[in-house]
Amino acid sequence: MDGNGRWAQQRGLPRLMGHHEGANSIRECVEACQQAGVQYLTLYAFSLENWKRPRTEVKGLMGLLERFLRERTDEIAQKGICLRAIGRLQDLPEPCHKLLSEALRKTAENRGLTLILALSYGSRTEIVDAIKNIAEQAIDGKIQPDQINDQTVADHLYTKGVPDPDLLIRTSGEMRLSNFLLWQLSYTEIYVTQKLWPDFRAADLQRALQDYNTRHRRYGGI
Ligand code: FPP
Repeated sequence: MDGNGRWAQQRGLPRLMGHHEGANSIRECVEACQQAGVQYLTLYAFSLENWKRPRTEVKGLMGLLERFLRERTDEIAQKGICLRAIGRLQDLPEPCHKLLSEALRKTAENRGLTLILALSYGSRTEIVDAIKNIAEQAIDGKIQPDQINDQTVADHLYTKGVPDPDLLIRTSGEMRLSNFLLWQLSYTEIYVTQKLWPDFRAADLQRALQDYNTRHRRYGGI
């Protein structure tokens, strides 16, 4: 959800106002996904690297997350959305962690859109954690090294059971993956828009889906 800071700077506002407006884009995009029948939506809300930002911005973002969970969990639950989270969730401040656990529990049985929040998430760390886990199982004799395959790795990632994304939407014209779902995005179609995340609304999401529908996916074949 890139471009919040620039959106605010362009208006002479503090960066946090951009994140605040970005939270409104989340609501619109979630609704648009539900209407379009999208089954999984993953939002890169806070990366492991984002902890390096100034304390006030980190604090503000955690405050927004807390407010989002406090104010929107019931609405999310009522809409049949199943909330999931990926990342080092234990790094989150206690109030966020607690509200998140409650929200995950309240929505676990829902069968509508699965909304995945990537929080304190870093893909390399996710892969390293998976390797450690697989290695421990190999040492314990629970898994044979020559039996390790793509599925073994996928089953040890935070996204276990979630299909690989069909489409990656990158806002604000950025042309990099920024340590996001590196394993899972191997064959994902990429859509880059110049729009800043707070300006990216339902109509923009629909445009991205239309563009996706014109893609011919070959998965390395012809
Ligand atoms: C990147 O833009 C955005 C973030 C680091 C935070 C995204 C968070 C939200 C939209 C709201 C909070 C999340 C939830 C789930 C309520 P940037 O700050 O890097 O923008 P810039 O590239 O223009 O500086």
